[in-house]
Formats: sequence, C-alpha cells, structure tokens
Amino acid sequence: MKNHQIVLLPGDGIGQEITTVASKVLDRVSKKFNFRLEIKEHLIGGSAIQETGDPLPKETLSACKESDAVLLAAIGSPEFDNLPREKRPESGLLKLRSGMHLFANIRPVKVFPALLEASTLKPEIIEDVDLVVVRELTGGVYFGKPKGRIKSEDSERAFNTMTYSAEEIKRISQVAFEIAKERRKKVCSVDKANVLDVSQLWRDKVEEISVIYKDINLSHQYVDNAAMQLIRNPKQFDVLLTGNLFGDILSDEAAMLTGSIGMLPSASLGKEGTPGLFEPVHGSAPDIAGLNMANPIAMALSAAMMLRIGLKEHAGAEAIENSINTVLDKGFRTADLMSKGCTELGCREMGERIIEEI
Ligand code: IPM
Ligand code: MG
Repeated sequence: MKNHQIVLLPGDGIGQEITTVASKVLDRVSKKFNFRLEIKEHLIGGSAIQETGDPLPKETLSACKESDAVLLAAIGSPEFDNLPREKRPESGLLKLRSGMHLFANIRPVKVFPALLEASTLKPEIIEDVDLVVVRELTGGVYFGKPKGRIKSEDSERAFNTMTYSAEEIKRISQVAFEIAKERRKKVCSVDKANVLDVSQLWRDKVEEISVIYKDINLSHQYVDNAAMQLIRNPKQFDVLLTGNLFGDILSDEAAMLTGSIGMLPSASLGKEGTPGLFEPVHGSAPDIAGLNMANPIAMALSAAMMLRIGLKEHAGAEAIENSINTVLDKGFRTADLMSKGCTELGCREMGERIIEEI
C-alpha cells in the first residue's frame, strides 16, 4: 500500500472547521482507493503567533519541506492587525511559500453547472467558463526590495519594489505554457507594459518562451483591461499568466464567476519533485468562524488537487470532485451559495454529504 506523508495546517478562523471536513474526506478516499495518509498537524498564522509568537514556527517549515504534500486551510485574524508586518499571520504564509520555493500558483476556475444561479453574473456569461490563473508566487512586489517606511520631520513615505528577473518570468511562463498544452492551447499574459518597466521585461520574456511553444496561441492584456474582460467575456480565457499582485487581484475576481470564493482550490508548486502546497483561495473568514457556516468545498477541492498533482492518486481526486458535483446537483448548498429551492447545510453537514457520495 502506498504511504504519503501529509502536513495539515488548519491555521485560523474557519480553518479548523474546513480542515475537519477535509480530514474526513481524505480518510474516506484513502480507504476506498487503498492508500495510506500519515497526517501531521502543525501551526501557522494567528494560532502559531498565539502559541509561539511566530506566524511560521521553524518546526512547521521543516515539517512541510520534509513532507510529500502540504494542505493548508486559511490564515488571518483581525486581532493581530496591529502587530508589525513581520509578526502578522500573512507573513507566515508568505514565508512558507518562499521557504518552500513555491513559485507557481495554479488557480483553476471552473463553473459548476448547478451553481449558474449563484453567481452575480448572468448565467449565459459564465456558463462553461473553464480557465486557470497561473500566478507567480515568490517574486514581484510582494517580495521586492528595497521596501520600507520612512519618516522625516514634515512627512512620511512608504515604498515597495515591483521587480522580476528574466529567469523568474521565464520559469513561470513555462509552467503556463505547459498547462495550456494539455488544455485549449491559449495563454493570455497579463501585465501593465504601457506604464511599468517591470511589465515590459515580463512581456519580452513571455514572448521569448512562446517561441518554444509554437502550437500555443499567446496574447497579452493590460491588467486593467483583463479585469474588465474577466466579467465581460470570461469564456475567452484558457490560461491567464500573471505576476504575483495582478494574480492575487484577478483570482479573487475570477472566483466570483463560480458563484462564491468558497469554491476555489489552488496548488502552489516549486521544482519537480519538491512538495507542493494546496490551499483554498479564500481567507479565514473570521466573521463566520465557529458558526458552522463555512463552505468546505474549496478545501475539499484543494485536497483533491493535492491527491492528483502532489500524490498522483488520480482516482481519489476524481472521486472527491464527482461527489461534490453530485451533492450540488442534488440541491445542497452552504449559506454563501444559497438560491431558491435549494437546501441549506452547515459546514459539517456539507462535509457529511460529500463523504456519503464518495
Ligand atoms: C491569497 C491571499 C494571500 C496573498 C494573503 C493572505 C497573503 O490573498 O492567497 O490570494 O495575498 O497571496
Ligand atoms: Mg488573494
């Protein structure tokens, strides 16, 4: 029997509730498809700050690096908003991404037919939407130096640096082109090359890589236009290639095509052969934490992505995705997805339905 070492990071807010669902779902598929998961929980984010004073304790990072895959729920808690940036929960996640060298963030956006009514957009606009955001994750303005805040006698100023090296752009472009090869063979690269030097280099290097991929159709859009096109005509997109900040913004926007940000999983990957990090795109939703109201689907879909991409347990991944489809087809919804005629379930109960259908 195959044995996989998994690190589970519940984090903050609704993290614990959706982690409980994911653990049970994983337990069910591993039994059904005959593999073993050795799951160890570790601290990250606000809960790690509370226990250790550090949003990413050393033990957590080393356990993640030694694992076969990492499944993270969500981090972030308003009670730490006043701490210096380095000490905030978000820094834990950023350090985990850079510490594990996870430069490629893959965020698939696929509309479930049963949820056409749940989106704020018209059904005919979002029907059949199936795109992937490929977001660079360890560079750009998130990590660029110099950065800081300076105070003089009469003024105050803060700054960050948006910077990319040619190598960083080329390796994330390659990921996008490789994914497009297995899909509809279209890459749309997003930048702000009409204004930013860093974007001009981005565009030049993406063009350079595209020469190797002759059968892939490459287009470019400025980020403001891309934001508009995503709600005007999202079906035009297959693979969207972005830098760190633009991808952060556009993937939240793209999430709403599916009806709720509670539906989107993601994978963050490094070099071939190194463990990946799998996490929902949504945050820790402190306002509904502990109320059994969270949508556990993005977390369950992240577990499915972990099985497929991280552990090559394809049958298990498919079983989770099919089960979620069936549960939605039967009209079961969490509060964020509710529409007329459907049955509202809590987080736990939604988890039970998903497990029942596996
Ligand atoms: C995301 C989140 C993170 C990001 C935050 C929590 C640091 O918004 O994964 O999209 O900005 O990358
Ligand atoms: Mg985000």
